[in-house]
Amino acid sequence: MAQDPWHFPRTELARATLAALTRGPVMAMSLFGARRTGKTEFLLRDLAVVAADAGHRVVYASFWQNPAAPLAVLLYECDRALQAKSTLVNRAAALPVKARLDLGVVSAEVDFGARRKSPPDDQVALLDAYLERLANPAKPALLLLDEVQELAAHPHGPVIMAALRTGLDKRRDGVRTLFTGSSQLGLNKVFSARTAPFYRFATPLTLPPLGEDFVDHQRAAFRTTYRRRLTREAALHAFDRFKANPFIFQQWLIALGMDVGLNEADAEARVLRDLAAQLDFDRVWLGLTSDQRAVARLLAERAQGLFGSAVEQRLTALIGQAPAPSVRQSAIRLLQRQGRADQFDKEWRLADPLFEAWVLQRPPEDF
Ligand SMILES: Nc1ncnc2c1ncn2[C@@H]1O[C@H](COP(=O)(O)OP(=O)(O)OP(=O)(O)O)[C@@H](O)[C@H]1O
Ligand SMILES: [Mg+2]
Repeated sequence: MAQDPWHFPRTELARATLAALTRGPVMAMSLFGARRTGKTEFLLRDLAVVAADAGHRVVYASFWQNPAAPLAVLLYECDRALQAKSTLVNRAAALPVKARLDLGVVSAEVDFGARRKSPPDDQVALLDAYLERLANPAKPALLLLDEVQELAAHPHGPVIMAALRTGLDKRRDGVRTLFTGSSQLGLNKVFSARTAPFYRFATPLTLPPLGEDFVDHQRAAFRTTYRRRLTREAALHAFDRFKANPFIFQQWLIALGMDVGLNEADAEARVLRDLAAQLDFDRVWLGLTSDQRAVARLLAERAQGLFGSAVEQRLTALIGQAPAPSVRQSAIRLLQRQGRADQFDKEWRLADPLFEAWVLQRPPEDF
């Protein structure tokens, strides 16, 4: 298959991560990065490839894929990895509604639409049997578990996590795990709650932001695809405006590529408008009170001291008065429950960079 000109390889980071995971003293790592910053792309297109090339078996499971039945997803992906002739992961197949998994000793029918109170015992036993089969101390198998905050939030989460923890502890040398998540609060629930099975289990790793070399790489892909050139300054300026977010930046390049008459600033406005429409931000905004919108704006502006007097002037400028600290607090809690706000290094922020960019663009009359 021809190389995708748009994929910017992060091979060095993948090699270093693989080395740390397979040759270092740690059994597991947790990779954190904000929404749409390239975690999944790194897992599937860099780390999995580098690991498979080095002869490691790779299991990739995303708990976002089917949040209804996380254990079924995990078992199914283990099964596929064990059956694969090559160690390379193949993401083409869609999940079936039901699958029959069989290891000879244990077998089970897993239902991907399952909504039971707890996972059936035979499935928990099957997980252990799969980990046993996957374990290889000479070439540790890699479990890449994406969107683990979904697992933590699931009613079966505690049982699955406990089973996984036990299974992984038994095969310290044979199976290594990389957990990924886009919510720091969600990941904290998995790794920092004293009562959680994975308490301090994984060494944290933050996905380094993409930089100028990514921008240059994307300009080259733009040239190959659209037979047009883009100045470095314009590209860097846009990348900066999009806070180094690869996804928004690529949408901007596509907008420019598809419409020859469009200038860079108009492409930026169009991208944000189109993405906002797709993601229904208008509806979200309509559901917020004026106080909540003002607080969302402060989060987007990455203001400090949200509950102190420092932000009062800004709030008054936005909506004519500063809501009391307790009101600000409950606004943040509401946004957090909606998955719109999250904590990054103890600072509250809007979780989705797209929503953040959109909120920053709201004119005064929208508050
Ligand atoms: N290394 C890269 N090269 C080229 N494009 C990239 C790269 N990393 C990310 N992207 C672009 O950014 C998009 C978002 O990346 P990805 O889905 O991996 O992010 P994520 O962090 O997993 O997001 P989420 O939090 O929503 O799961 C990709 O679809 C791709 O278009
Ligand atoms: Mg992802």
